[in-house]
Amino acid sequence: MTGKAQTAARIAESLDNREMDELCDATAAAIEDGGGFGWLIPPPRQVMETYYNGVVLVPGRTLFLGLLDGVIAGSAQLLAPTRNNEAQAAACNLVGAFVAPWARGHGLARTLTEAVEDQARAEGFGMINLDVRETQAAAIHVYESMGYVHWGAHPLYARLADGAWIPGRFYYKVLVGEAPEPPRGERDK
Ligand SMILES: CC(C)(COP(=O)(O)OP(=O)(O)OC[C@H]1O[C@@H](n2cnc3c(N)ncnc32)[C@H](O)[C@@H]1OP(=O)(O)O)[C@@H](O)C(=O)NCCC(=O)NCCS
Repeated sequence: MTGKAQTAARIAESLDNREMDELCDATAAAIEDGGGFGWLIPPPRQVMETYYNGVVLVPGRTLFLGLLDGVIAGSAQLLAPTRNNEAQAAACNLVGAFVAPWARGHGLARTLTEAVEDQARAEGFGMINLDVRETQAAAIHVYESMGYVHWGAHPLYARLADGAWIPGRFYYKVLVGEAPEPPRGERDK
């Protein structure tokens, strides 16, 4: 490969065989690297395919593919609140973000995150939330440099295969306008 690698991100409403293969390969590589995608070891390919086929079908979940020089190398999902959750209807979640180890350092995570934020704004969301393991230094760097505000920590956020607990960090970013003043507690009574 010569020159600067090209990053791109797009929404996938369905996955053809080639896209599914590339996405599953990228996912497995990220999980094997210690990924933070939920799975601790890559599941059988059929399980992963069933999962992604479900992701593109489920209402309120949007799958983004991250491409490096045209090859699927990462992914992220925009998760809308459930319809009954009127009190949190303004906020969505960024989940399942990863970039395969071979594709890191080219700005693909930023490209993916910007695509998710743009879509969130287009869907009318004013705020986006996400959480990461405290050990995910690259992710923390990317999100904090993109304006995500660290508001909380969970001491027992994730449990690894060896039984060790990993703390987690919680973030939000206001997508539209200025951050409103937080309430002082009276209105929650
Ligand atoms: C986090 C992740 C998505 C970043 O992907 P990426 O495409 O390499 O990210 P980018 O190239 O857009 O940006 C990487 C940035 O992190 C920095 N970085 C890389 N490793 C780092 C580390 N160990 N500590 C701090 N910063 C680090 C890079 O210098 C770069 O910063 P810069 O653009 O200011 O120079 C990828 O590392 C990953 O998939 N990690 C495992 C899963 C994960 O953490 N998912 C996100 C939370 S669920």
